[in-house]
Amino acid sequence: MDPESHIWAWPQPIPLQLDALASRRFGPHLRHLRVSELLVDLEVPVESIRSYWDAFYRANRGPQSLLHESPFAAWTAERLEEGSQVLDFGCGTGRDSMYFASLGHLVTGFDCSAEAIEIARREATTRGHPAHFEVLDLADLEIARTKVELSVAEDVPTSCYARFLLHATGNVERNNLLEISASVLGQGGLLFLEFRTVDDARTMHAYGEKHFRNYLRPDLVREEIVEHGGKVLSCEENRGLAPFEGEDPVICRLVATWRGPA
Ligand SMILES: C[S@@+](CC[C@H](N)C(=O)[O-])C[C@H]1O[C@@H](n2cnc3c(N)ncnc32)[C@H](O)[C@@H]1O
Repeated sequence: MDPESHIWAWPQPIPLQLDALASRRFGPHLRHLRVSELLVDLEVPVESIRSYWDAFYRANRGPQSLLHESPFAAWTAERLEEGSQVLDFGCGTGRDSMYFASLGHLVTGFDCSAEAIEIARREATTRGHPAHFEVLDLADLEIARTKVELSVAEDVPTSCYARFLLHATGNVERNNLLEISASVLGQGGLLFLEFRTVDDARTMHAYGEKHFRNYLRPDLVREEIVEHGGKVLSCEENRGLAPFEGEDPVICRLVATWRGPA
């Protein structure tokens, strides 16, 4: 690994492994973010993550391809019980949430970007899809858990869904998602995850190489699910699953349950 490589273009590139420099650059109000596979130890202010995504959605409102559901959403829909509740974490502007709602599921989309949630709400109203959207930051477990628990409907099978969220966050947020999934899925339902893996690091990406990506090892995510009391039902890593504007990323699709013995 080239220690001089840059993986973060926001607010400006940070050389790998130079966390002391990052601390000096960002000041004392920092929180921990580990880019697991690259063993980078960066600390990034939470507010900056939200501003980063707000700016991203202001600049990237509407490629046509983002108006339609992702291939992962279509794949997930085939595995959902009829009339499920779907909690879509890191929903962005809500294309997959609206798709699930159009199939008759009860849907809440969560995202830390107020900009994305505003677009999603407007779009859902325009399209007449009854998906509900909430700003939620997985960095704060207690607030996030409370918001999610308030959204969970009684007597409806609930599943959690997160497409391209895990590689857009750090360890804390990923573990908080698993913690919340464990508390919401104890009675049934599934966790559906799709994320970029370490083998995707060298792919040419549609949004360029300066967009933040925390490439993950599927084994690590599997281990964390088990540590949280869950069981992995399926896990596939491949290209060809999430083509986007000429890009064919290496991604992992994983399904987990918290029902029954781990
Ligand atoms: C790559 S986008 C994926 C959007 C959408 N799921 C899709 O597939 O089109 C990652 C999303 O995760 C959201 N996100 C990043 N960190 C988050 C956090 N800590 N809590 C909640 N959402 C977060 C971002 O705002 C962004 O919308």
